[in-house]
Parts: sequence; structure tokens; C-alpha cells
Amino acid sequence: MVAVAARTPLIAGNWKMNLDHLQAVALVQKLDWTLKDAGHESGSVEVAVFPPFTDLRSVQTLLDADKIAFALGAQDLSTHDSGAYTGEVSGAFLKKLGATYVIIGHSERREYHDETDDVIAAKVQAALKHGLVPVICVGETLEQLEEFGASAVPVGQLKAALQDVPADADIVVAYEPVWAIGTGKVATPEQAQDVCAALRAVIADELGAEAAERTRILYGGSVKSGNIATYMREPDVDGALVGGASLLADEFAAIIRYQKHVGV
Ligand code: 13P
Repeated sequence: MVAVAARTPLIAGNWKMNLDHLQAVALVQKLDWTLKDAGHESGSVEVAVFPPFTDLRSVQTLLDADKIAFALGAQDLSTHDSGAYTGEVSGAFLKKLGATYVIIGHSERREYHDETDDVIAAKVQAALKHGLVPVICVGETLEQLEEFGASAVPVGQLKAALQDVPADADIVVAYEPVWAIGTGKVATPEQAQDVCAALRAVIADELGAEAAERTRILYGGSVKSGNIATYMREPDVDGALVGGASLLADEFAAIIRYQKHVGV
């Protein structure tokens, strides 16, 4: 067994299609001030924000200018590098803008843009090719939960996404039960732990034990400051992918500071 340093928790804000570039800058500034005011020590938790494409340049400029230690991510990318693909955004462009991460396979893209497991696997390859860390989202709908239980669908989705991924690839996995997204319904910490453990077993099978040990697995779905700590206590939950609550500086700061206000 290879000794691996403990996984750094990752708290990621997926803004979805919210905030123009001016509102984006205002939110990042407020979040930074709120954390500094609270005496938050950056480093214990990694913070990442995922604005819409049109905000990335402005947010990146602010992070650089004010030396704010948030990582930047995009919400999607093209499977192609460049060319006649109207409306698409290449991983190469995102990398050049300073993005570290890119969300791939979010349930909203699977549902509203018909993204299949094959498209998602191709996007994972595109991200890795351009030096971006894919945040691979998996999760079951309520119907799938009732029919197959919680793990089967996310496990199948992750296996498909990891086709041809090398063992040393840097990836993040996010378990987001579709029925918990934006609904106020949440998986219990035990449910989240069970599925995240099953996903870690998939990583071990597909990429090996070292990759499984080092890869961060996030929970997402109605995460708030009031419930984050219950998830972070679980051994296979390494962070959160936060939607609605990441649009509010005070609330997202409180989520980031989960260790302080609940003593995890
Ligand atoms: P909510 O936190 O709004 O439920 O959204 C979760 C999500 O989809 C993050 O990607």
C-alpha cells in the first residue's frame, strides 16, 4: 500500500447560469472579505468557484490581482480542441484563462442537453488533454433510486467516465443525487457515505488503489452551512459541490468554515 497524504477537503461552488461578470466579481470580493474577516486560514480547505463562461476572465483577473487563493473552474467544455463548433468552448481556452477544474456530466447537462456516458467520457479525455482536472458528476434520479437503490446508477456512470483514464490522472468525483439538487431534500450522511465508498471502490478497480486513496469525492445536493459538517464527518466524503448556497457570500463562507463552527 502506497502512503498518501490526507486528502485536502474541496468546497466547490457551482454557480450554474447565475450572475453576470460584474455580479461575479462582487461575489468573489465579498466572499474573500468575509473569510478574511472571520480569520479563515486558507490552506486547510481548498475553495473553488465555477462561474459561467462569460465571467471567467473577470474572476480570474480579480483572483490574480488580489492574490485570492480560490481555484477557478468552468461548468463544461467541448470534446473538440478548436474549429467549426459554434457555441462550444475548448479546454485549451479554459486552461489559458487560468482554470484548474471543469465540471463534466452534471445532471442538468445529462438531462437538458442529452449528454450520454460516451460524450461525458470524451469530455473527461478533453479535460485531461488540456491539463484540466475534471470534476465528474454522477447521481441517480428518484425513479432510479426507487428501482435500483442509490449506488447502481452512479457506479455505472463513473465506470463509463473513467474509460481510458490513466491511473495517475488527477480527477475529482462528485456524487449528486438528482432528487437532492435544488430541492431542499438531502441524502442522509450515511447514504452519501455509502455511495461515495462505492465510487471509491470503482476508482480502485479502474485506476488502482493509489488513485482511489488520493482522489477526492464530493457530495452535492442542497448542501448548506447547517448540514455540511454532517457530510464532512464521513470518511469517504472529501468535500461538497454547492449550488444555490454558493451564490450567497455569507452562507458559502460558513460552508467553507465548517471546521470552525462545528468543530469537525
Ligand atoms: P444545490 O446545492 O442548489 O442543490 O445544487 C447542487 C448542484 O447541482 C451543484 O452542482
